[in-house]
Amino acid sequence: MPYTIAIDGPAGAGKSTVARALSRRLGCLYVDTGAMYRALSLFCLRHAIPLHDEEAVSKAVEGVSVSLRPEEEGGQRVELDGEDVSGEIRTQEVGDAASVISCYGAVRTKLLSLQRELGEKHSVVMDGRDIGTRVLPGADLKIYLTASSEVRARRRMRELLEKGEKADYAAVKREVEERDYRDMHREIAPLKRAEDALLLDSSDLTIEGTVDAILALSKG
Ligand code: DC
Repeated sequence: MPYTIAIDGPAGAGKSTVARALSRRLGCLYVDTGAMYRALSLFCLRHAIPLHDEEAVSKAVEGVSVSLRPEEEGGQRVELDGEDVSGEIRTQEVGDAASVISCYGAVRTKLLSLQRELGEKHSVVMDGRDIGTRVLPGADLKIYLTASSEVRARRRMRELLEKGEKADYAAVKREVEERDYRDMHREIAPLKRAEDALLLDSSDLTIEGTVDAILALSKG
């Protein structure tokens, strides 16, 4: 039987880094569901589809294919119609667009079956917003990973500065809070802690500390 760990939480809580490290330690597959939403939003941005037009977005993404290919070191390649877009999806613009189009039923339904299939066939660590509540409600271990918006904004600032981009703390914090609001208040599959998910606050934890805490829970 595959062993599944679901990690949900707001943007910037450290989910992807923690999930990747955890999958490496457990020797199982890492599935970054946010990357799938990002790939579809990149498609919409490239084709100038109006993001706030649900019908236009739903129609546009109908025939688009998104796939995740596992790579060494627990990484993964994200493909959009066969093209490697792993780097291109990592911008603030693509992330914000993903948060908008992920509110649409057609977009979520399209990715849901792909995500469930991965969780049924393989032992996985899967991260996102609705993994414990909707994608893998029967997951063996569910974690709700969070951190204060101040800590998450500071982490985002550091990432931007490392990339040589300009960053203004007040603006970054506002963006973090706007994204939280959208992800938590949408009608379909909003971000929320599953009743049986364990709450972990990473504000004062390192990545290794967070991974160790989850590993201890997975053995518990
Ligand atoms: O985790 P991320 O920043 O890569 O996700 C980008 C957006 O995709 C996020 O703001 C909301 C959406 N998303 C979602 O609705 N459901 C998921 N399981 C994963 C991401």
